[in-house]
Amino acid sequence: QHPAVPVPAVPKAELHVHLEGTARPELIRRLARRNGVAIPDGLLAGEDTFRWTDFLDFLRTYDLAASVIRTAEDYRDVVYEYLVACAADDVRYVELIASPDHARAVGLTEAEHRAGLFQGIDEARAATGIEGRILVSIVRNFGVEAAERVAAEAAAMPHEYVVGFNMAGDEAGYPAGDFTRAFAIAHDAGLGCTCHAGEHAGPESVRAALALPGVVRLSHGVRAIEDPALVAELAERKIVLEVCPTSNVALGVYPSYADHPLPALMAAGVPVTLASDDPPYFGATIGEEYGLAQAHFGLDDAALAGITRTALDAAFLDTPARDALV
Ligand code: ADE
Ligand code: ZN
Repeated sequence: QHPAVPVPAVPKAELHVHLEGTARPELIRRLARRNGVAIPDGLLAGEDTFRWTDFLDFLRTYDLAASVIRTAEDYRDVVYEYLVACAADDVRYVELIASPDHARAVGLTEAEHRAGLFQGIDEARAATGIEGRILVSIVRNFGVEAAERVAAEAAAMPHEYVVGFNMAGDEAGYPAGDFTRAFAIAHDAGLGCTCHAGEHAGPESVRAALALPGVVRLSHGVRAIEDPALVAELAERKIVLEVCPTSNVALGVYPSYADHPLPALMAAGVPVTLASDDPPYFGATIGEEYGLAQAHFGLDDAALAGITRTALDAAFLDTPARDALV
């Protein structure tokens, strides 16, 4: 775990955070109590600590935590509490990656899930001015059939708040190409597309994600650094990387911040943003992520403000809403 770090006083934006992964153990306990369900075995390692070992075990723990989020009101609370905490750190805009598969697994209908998410966004905006949008996520290891069903569901959702589409899960075990149809459905419906790649697999996985219909950003993408021609292509095509240095260090993608390729990617002209991924699992909020980037990569406040600008330019929200933020 990293030491506490000051949060720089610059406007911030976040394009890559998993909604179910924002809920701290304290909130998960509260929801479990309210729903009269037990805390699943293997979920927690202490008062405020999720238990997990490696990446695949993290994914299982994540599914356990999500299984306690049960009602529209629960989803409202998770969204509201995350966005309000972000606003206190001068975060202006957040894209929340939400997974209909996890809501479906606890018996919520798509409409109930969506109603909770939208209510959280509306109430957080009313309380703080922060703007939030939803990216619907498929999960590689839940398979192609589930992915295509979720893509069709996302395509039919009102695009006012559901603005994008992402794919998370086990990158090394499930190749991106299998999900071409799911991305085609989302892209054809006008959703902005991004995809987890270049985190737990290398450049070939990044190329496969870039070949999916509509993909203009990458969640992580950092392991593109292993192939200079690919780095040049990302810079040339202005593919935006949603970089999560603390997540990468926590999951062992890199041994330390000093080994992280964010500075090299920036130097090569690849557009980058900063994000927290799953903050209570990996130990840094989005505000702290900005502070850690300052401490470890020497980014001054102007450089951090530039990263926020990159994020707002790459955000999937519509132009009037974007203009209202800046
Ligand atoms: N789901 C939640 N966090 C994830 C990550 N860092 N990579 C892939 N899938 C995820
Ligand atoms: Zn992620």
